[in-house]
Amino acid sequence: MNNTPNKYNNISVDIDRLFEIEPEAIRLKPRRKIYRLVVRYSSAILIKLGLYEVLVEIGFIRKWFLDFKEYWYNCLNGRPLYLHDFYYLLGSYRSKFASVETPDHATNEEFLESWQSSETVYMLFGAVRRFSRTPLISRQFEKYIRNNDAVLEYGCGIAPITTSLLKVGKKRNLDLTIADIRQLNFHYAKYNLSSLVKSFEIVPNSVEDLPQKYNVIIMITVMEHLPNPLETIRNITKFLEPGGILFFDYHADDGDGQDTIEAIEQKKDVLDYISNNYSITKGSIDYENTMGITVVKKN
Ligand SMILES: C[S@@+](CC[C@H](N)C(=O)[O-])C[C@H]1O[C@@H](n2cnc3c(N)ncnc32)[C@H](O)[C@@H]1O
Repeated sequence: MNNTPNKYNNISVDIDRLFEIEPEAIRLKPRRKIYRLVVRYSSAILIKLGLYEVLVEIGFIRKWFLDFKEYWYNCLNGRPLYLHDFYYLLGSYRSKFASVETPDHATNEEFLESWQSSETVYMLFGAVRRFSRTPLISRQFEKYIRNNDAVLEYGCGIAPITTSLLKVGKKRNLDLTIADIRQLNFHYAKYNLSSLVKSFEIVPNSVEDLPQKYNVIIMITVMEHLPNPLETIRNITKFLEPGGILFFDYHADDGDGQDTIEAIEQKKDVLDYISNNYSITKGSIDYENTMGITVVKKN
């Protein structure tokens, strides 16, 4: 295979440079509630009929692809892209991603390398594809969110839940923040959402004050990737209001790929900390198996 960087199936991405360029355009515009509701219920009908995914597959619903294409051109300087190229590239980048590994007890440089190297471009293709099929993903979280709440999506990637709240959410005046380490998916989220949400960058392994307090913190498929899960959960808890809601899951089982060994080693302490400082609202603490999305309320 030819490994020379090109602007198609082997793009070269300078993550730090990307983060230094401010997005010029206002990408996602604020949507009036009535518009959000129309999109919400029409999507719900299509999902119920089993048609939504089919319409995405055949390219009839394609706004997600147009958004991706704009980012591909404007931020990654990619070559012309058609829908079929998207799926070709998804597979091509996926095969490179198979070799990505976060080393055990990685230094900060090694840790970031495993999230920023050119082999990780698949993360963006994979997330864009996946969440193009789940427009209503915010619904299960919305039950626990009130109008005017401050909501943080921590380790947000392309920020699927925040995006869905903005596009089809029922709640008004949410104060939304997205946060992640410097990696491509987070840049994609910032590019699309920066006019409507606050954001901050996480530095791996360092415990820093968050910019404000939150009523709701959402941390989905993040715990198993952290180099310091216990410190992180303690820190996040400090910035959650009393009675505030935390959503989390915990997949740590083998420490392979981008999962960390620390997430396995510290799982018991993290779950003990959560048990001692929160009450369970939905789900249950499971020390042995993968935990699905669990909802806990700060004491
Ligand atoms: C599997 S992705 C999940 C992304 C998003 N939460 C979602 O549900 O699509 C894991 C996320 O954890 C983030 N992450 C990795 N190391 C982190 C760290 N030290 N602190 C916070 N987030 C981190 C990654 O950048 C990535 O966005």
